Amino acid sequence: MKVMVVGGGGREHAIVKKIKENPSVTELYVLPGNGGMAQDAVCVDIGAKDIDGMVAFAKEKAIDFAVVAPDDPLVLGAVDALEAIGVPCFGPNKDAAILEGSKVFSKNLMKKYGIPTAAYEVFDKAEDALAYLETAPIPTVIKADGLALGKGVIIAETREQAKEGVKTIMEDKVFGASGDHIVVEEFLTGPEVSVLAFTDGKTMIPMVSSMDHKRALDGDKGLNTGGMGTVAPNPYYTEAVAEECMKTIFLPTMDAMNKEGRTFKGCLYFGLMLTPNGPKVIEYNCRFGDPETQVVLPLLESDLLTIMQHIAKGTLAEAEVEFSKKSACCVIMASEGYPGKYETGYEITLPADSSRIFVAGAKIKDGKLVTGGGRVLGVTEVADTLAEAVDKAYATVKTVSFANAYYRKDIGKKALAAEV
Ligand code: AMP
Ligand code: GLY
Repeated sequence: MKVMVVGGGGREHAIVKKIKENPSVTELYVLPGNGGMAQDAVCVDIGAKDIDGMVAFAKEKAIDFAVVAPDDPLVLGAVDALEAIGVPCFGPNKDAAILEGSKVFSKNLMKKYGIPTAAYEVFDKAEDALAYLETAPIPTVIKADGLALGKGVIIAETREQAKEGVKTIMEDKVFGASGDHIVVEEFLTGPEVSVLAFTDGKTMIPMVSSMDHKRALDGDKGLNTGGMGTVAPNPYYTEAVAEECMKTIFLPTMDAMNKEGRTFKGCLYFGLMLTPNGPKVIEYNCRFGDPETQVVLPLLESDLLTIMQHIAKGTLAEAEVEFSKKSACCVIMASEGYPGKYETGYEITLPADSSRIFVAGAKIKDGKLVTGGGRVLGVTEVADTLAEAVDKAYATVKTVSFANAYYRKDIGKKALAAEV
């Protein structure tokens, strides 16, 4: 079976490694992949937003199954384009990917169907938003409508910051057209949980829960990043919370999308906050999270490709989806300076066994693997307890080296404190 995976980060490396476990896979391609994945799949120099390129490639190679992992191609309609030439895909089509592509859409959907989320207002004009902020409760949260590389969210502690935020997004257009419309929402508090769920629009199977560490520095300080590390399961996500989320959030979201004629199939990511008034949706993503995937997939005991094929066929109810009861920890090693300015091109040394190292930003130069991005790689370890998984991950981190490596030293600390 010939399989292609679209994307090029640590998440895609984790997906590729898992898909490779299926013995029927004879050829595995990743578009564009990165230098650190070359041992696991054939990297093809086609960008993740080049939909014409991926369609032509799928035709040329007679691809049997495609996995579209990142948000951009999903929102641009990569799945629609591949399905149109008869390639079965894992991932939502364009109409369903809007759940992540437009915050205005997702907030309005939650309001219409009574799915718990922060109270909000939508604005199309900066002057209206500024007038509203004269009396709005503070702190408040300002969000650009469209995709903004995970950076389109401003938490404003003061009225002045909130107004500055509106100006940056709507007038200075730092996120381009993503800032044509904004959502101003209520500031919520409580532990955050990421839940990825498999769904084909009829069945919803949540995966093991996880906890991201979004800020750059220890103690959740510094700038927001794409994620500096993850642990799974998330100790705040108890069975009682899981049951409540299934009833008030997961199934209602699946049903709402069906009612809107936008059936979602693929991986639906629920970014949740467990507030004093119950679990609420902070954000939806239309894809696997990164670096959540790097802890969730190593705990998946069933065959990923088979599950994905069931979802494409609409038979998820028949799939076996089992997760291990163990724990996992992923520590992201980044280039010093990320998410701001950083230097790349430094040689990376990996341990002999790199089976649990997921490479995100690296390339091959003169036959050597060198750094090529902000987040360079993720080191994941699995163990019987979270404490052991954290220790093992940090021990493995010490066996990886590149000149300007930076990583947080406290991944899992909050989760361990919550366990007792
Ligand atoms: P997002 O890019 O939507 O994941 O938001 C980035 C981060 O901002 C989230 O992980 C939360 O920590 C925080 N955040 C987003 N919305 C809210 C909110 N309504 N209240 C409090 N924090 C929020
Ligand atoms: N780790 C957060 C995300 O994938 O959006």
